[in-house]
Amino acid sequence: MSKRYVGVLSVAIAAAIGLPVWASAKGGVKHPDVKALYAKNCAGCHGAKMQGGVGPALTREGKKRTYTWLVVELKNPKSHKKNSMMPTAAAEHLSVANVKAMAAYLSKLK
Ligand code: HEC
Repeated sequence: MSKRYVGVLSVAIAAAIGLPVWASAKGGVKHPDVKALYAKNCAGCHGAKMQGGVGPALTREGKKRTYTWLVVELKNPKSHKKNSMMPTAAAEHLSVANVKAMAAYLSKLK
């Protein structure tokens, strides 16, 4: 099996089981790259620099919210706002490790 074929195959498998492809390309999500995760899953609504857009600015999120609040928000935004249009972690294929890393990162922005 050629190297190229194995690469294509592993991306296809990651896509098939719902893993974010960038994560598998980096060899797992034990230490998720929060910035890459943000660019891929969040920037479209919250802005490339977290300045806000469809969703609010996140640049000072740690002043507003606790780590625990952020974990709940990322898992299921509807638990805070019934008609939230933000996708759940499951819909974005974020693992528990992804959610925790993102919440930890956001909670430090002050
Ligand atoms: C489809 C657009 C959309 C996407 C994609 C999205 N969000 Fe949101 N987000 C929103 C909107 C709109 C709100 C405002 C509250 C609501 O409607 O739930 C929000 C609210 C939030 C809040 C709470 C802000 C506060 O303190 O009230 C956080 C934190 C957040 N988003 C983080 C993220 C992260 C991290 C991602 C990527 C994993 C993401 N969002 C992806 C639209 C989005």
